[in-house]
Amino acid sequence: MPSDSVLSQAWHRLSALAARPDARAIRPLFAADPGRAGRFTVHHGDLTVDFSKTSIDGAALVALLELAHAADLDGFRMRLFAGGKVNPTENRAAMHMALRSHAGDGLQAALGDGVDAASKLAADEREAMRRFVAAVHDGTLRGASGERFDTVVNIGIGGSDLGPLMATEALTLARGARMQARFLSNVDGNGVAALTRELDPARTLVLVASKSFTTEETAMNARAMRGWIAGALGEAAVGAHFAALSTNLKAVAAFGIAPERVFGFRDWVGGRFSLWSPVGLVIALAAGWDAFQTMLDGGRDMDAHFRAADFADNLPVLLALVGIWHVNALGLGQHCVLAYDDRLRRFPAFLQQLEMESNGKSVGLDGAAVAGRTCPVIFGEPGTNAQHSFMQLVHQGTQVIPVDFILAAVPDHERAEAHRMLAANALAQAAALMGGKTLAAVEAEMRAAGVSEGEIARLAPHRVFAGDRPSTTILLRRLDAFSLGRLIALYEHKVAVQGWLWGVSSFDQWGVELGKVLARAILPALTEGGAGPDASTGALIARFRALRGET
Ligand code: F6P
Repeated sequence: MPSDSVLSQAWHRLSALAARPDARAIRPLFAADPGRAGRFTVHHGDLTVDFSKTSIDGAALVALLELAHAADLDGFRMRLFAGGKVNPTENRAAMHMALRSHAGDGLQAALGDGVDAASKLAADEREAMRRFVAAVHDGTLRGASGERFDTVVNIGIGGSDLGPLMATEALTLARGARMQARFLSNVDGNGVAALTRELDPARTLVLVASKSFTTEETAMNARAMRGWIAGALGEAAVGAHFAALSTNLKAVAAFGIAPERVFGFRDWVGGRFSLWSPVGLVIALAAGWDAFQTMLDGGRDMDAHFRAADFADNLPVLLALVGIWHVNALGLGQHCVLAYDDRLRRFPAFLQQLEMESNGKSVGLDGAAVAGRTCPVIFGEPGTNAQHSFMQLVHQGTQVIPVDFILAAVPDHERAEAHRMLAANALAQAAALMGGKTLAAVEAEMRAAGVSEGEIARLAPHRVFAGDRPSTTILLRRLDAFSLGRLIALYEHKVAVQGWLWGVSSFDQWGVELGKVLARAILPALTEGGAGPDASTGALIARFRALRGET
């Protein structure tokens, strides 16, 4: 464990550097250091992370790396891969890396199962998945009326939806899908209504993805889809059309899914880290087994890098430290993710859960309030779309919001010109955020265009860009299954590093519980009437019932 005084000294050094008057300036760093672009860019294979467009200078980088050492990040990293209980509030390990590992990688399951036990278990689960996917694809497994499955519906929410959906889109939008994949997450009945309207039950395979198998939205949606299959094809058909992905085998059996249709995994796989597990079955069904396996290989490649690389060359560690600089040293509370790739359109939503459910905490591992800020608010959209909506605020708003730009150099379509335009926009946004545009430059430009002095005085201030707005650029050669796996694992490890440095428990999510309990209490009040947990909610319940003509 880190010594408190060494650690607090490291935080103080960082604060002192951030208190320098020019701590947010980026442009002068390039003027002072012609080699900056190269020095603040790190590569791993064909993956590049460029954080030169941040205000981290040599001294800040040293201080950030010292912080990582002072916090014994190395010890944390070893415990993580050794299956230590890095999730102490749930008394669990966090061994999602085992899902993409090979025997011999030296991962150790918690609870004394021994080296490679987790990897072997994951390999067995993977083999069962592979056989199932092959049987669906080759038509050995068919619907109850003998038709081949051409559609898979994944019912799940949170980690049982966001990762699988994001990865399925990423892997199929360009390359096409083996099967149509649809996702049912929200308990809003519109989802079921749309699917049952559009799909043919005889050709639809339904996956119920729920780590706990107690999630009420998922249970309700699963019952609805079960009713749809049974109504159309008969009760006896249900077994042929359902499979489940869960750690809770008892609850799955109670739902009526046969054991051979259940793909299990262990509690050391957190929901938001579970796309590599059987929860990713929809990815394999839609994108093909090879793509799924290759995505796992990409994740494994990032694990090996994270485990072995020095902090100064370690992409997840550096990405985490850049975030620490922004959040804790500079006090920036938001973070924007712009993937210039439509295939990653759900990547920000996936990251919202990954980062904010992991590190959106205010109590430390010791049960005391944390001293500083933790996870920023994460948001994002694909570029260039974002440029035509909220990027106004990121360029000229009163708050400074660091951005991650994600871009692939090589497209997977024939429209080379479109891809160059996309890339030019990504690079231009990052350059504009940093470079800005001075009042003098705006005025000169307007004068050259023949604008009157009065109009220049009136309009020029609106056209100024302050600049020195930070961003990190993540450049892939190509978005394929391997690089996608590597990208996801990069962010997973970034989150774990940040959680450790913030001293919070990254692998639990107690903050989601209170709302669930209250929803259960409010539910009967909506039909029968009754007070809510507070006067405002009580009044809204009454109004809701009145609008429905129920009072
Ligand atoms: O309520 C939050 C949460 O527990 C997430 O952490 C999880 O990913 C999601 O619900 C779904 O949980 P499950 O996979 O157990 O249905």
